Amino acid sequence: MDISVLGTGYLGATHAACMAELGFSVVGVDIDEAKIAALSAGTTPFYEPGLGPILRRAMDNGRLVFTTDISVAARATVHFIAVGTPQAKGSFAADTSAVEQVLRALVPHLEGDHVVIGKSTVPVGTAAHLQAMVDELAGDRANVEVCWNPEFLREGYAVQDTITPDRIVLGISQPSSPAREVVEKLYAQALAAGTPMIVTDLATAELVKVAANAFLATKISFINAVSEVCEAAGADVTAVADALGHDKRIGRRFLNAGLGFGGGCLPKDIRAFMARAGELGANEALTFLREVDAINMRRRDHLVQVVKSVCGGSLIGQNIAVLGCAFKPHSDDVRDSPSLAVAGALSLGGAEVSVYDPQAMDNARAIFPTLHYATDTQEVLSGADCVVVATEWPEFLELDPSEAATMVRTPRVVDGRNVIDRQAWLAAGWSVHALGRPSLEPSSS
Ligand code: UDX
Repeated sequence: MDISVLGTGYLGATHAACMAELGFSVVGVDIDEAKIAALSAGTTPFYEPGLGPILRRAMDNGRLVFTTDISVAARATVHFIAVGTPQAKGSFAADTSAVEQVLRALVPHLEGDHVVIGKSTVPVGTAAHLQAMVDELAGDRANVEVCWNPEFLREGYAVQDTITPDRIVLGISQPSSPAREVVEKLYAQALAAGTPMIVTDLATAELVKVAANAFLATKISFINAVSEVCEAAGADVTAVADALGHDKRIGRRFLNAGLGFGGGCLPKDIRAFMARAGELGANEALTFLREVDAINMRRRDHLVQVVKSVCGGSLIGQNIAVLGCAFKPHSDDVRDSPSLAVAGALSLGGAEVSVYDPQAMDNARAIFPTLHYATDTQEVLSGADCVVVATEWPEFLELDPSEAATMVRTPRVVDGRNVIDRQAWLAAGWSVHALGRPSLEPSSS
């Protein structure tokens, strides 16, 4: 079975390499020449742990090639759509134009039987619309079936999530659809290992993805809302989350209060979900997601205010070290990154901001060139009046607070992710601040 993967970003490049790793012959296609040149040279154009070796192995054994020429994809019979669906300009809706464009480019080259498997996150109803569009483009030359197989991969764990997903969801237009057999063959290894497969209609499959992301976003904003009350009441949100997490109906995961969610998925997906519900007439169903979004966005401003207050009420002339600018650890992605937003806001507020991130520096520099980017943790800490833990990379959690104290000008730390060992930092002479937890001052210890 020959496969094409259309779109080679975080999702597509990982999917292409993993499908080749599973033994299929794969061509990855993208319109971005620089991306294709990098991938063709065996380098990943973004940071994703574990992807490089799999990519190079697949290329060395000839199972994986990359091209900008979409006509090459016509030699395959299975086509994954992995292009982006960003937030549309001036609206909450998803911009699905890349999904349409890629099919408009591909289908005229097709002959015979083909299956198109959508992986991109799309508004409910998109797959049915694409099937109608594809039928028209294919005419009598080809028989092209569109199905939807949403992707739940997390950046930083993309390879693991692709090879061993926790569930496989497939939306098909009719129960007898041949796409089901094709997809079962593609995921034979995971299915043999017992991975549950939910086969459903197109609309339900599309909805599973956005509903999952909306739920995760809601869980994070819930605990961040509780965090606001904790601050008002002098309580500790981390202890609240730990205690809640022991309730199996709730669970501890995604209850980490702090700077909130960002990245290329959660923020735009909850907005697109609201927009689509409105278009469908379910106007009131998802209005709570506006609140989820608002709670999340005010975390950033709140952290800036905490830093300002820790620095004595003004940011002007303060040296602030921001640890991390990726939207989460194990990623170089700075799309809608809360950490980078905070670094930028501190700088615009008059602080001298120095940023260090183990992977995301180039991406951050490209969109926020006016910040100072340090070359390592030592440089970023040097002379700081306040240290902000913004992205919870392991190397920041492993910092020795006593050593760090010798590098800064004033030992003040604001933990934006509630991850540092507060007592160890306090014992090393730091004043320790966080979101949703009481501050600790060395003199009062
Ligand atoms: C998410 C979904 O998890 C994934 O299934 C989907 O396919 C794409 O979107 P990703 O964007 O890679 O994946 O990040 P995720 O690990 O979900 O984290 C999202 C954001 O939430 C990050 O900014 C993270 O820092 C934040 N987060 C996560 C919290 O603030 N608190 C938590 O407890 C968990």
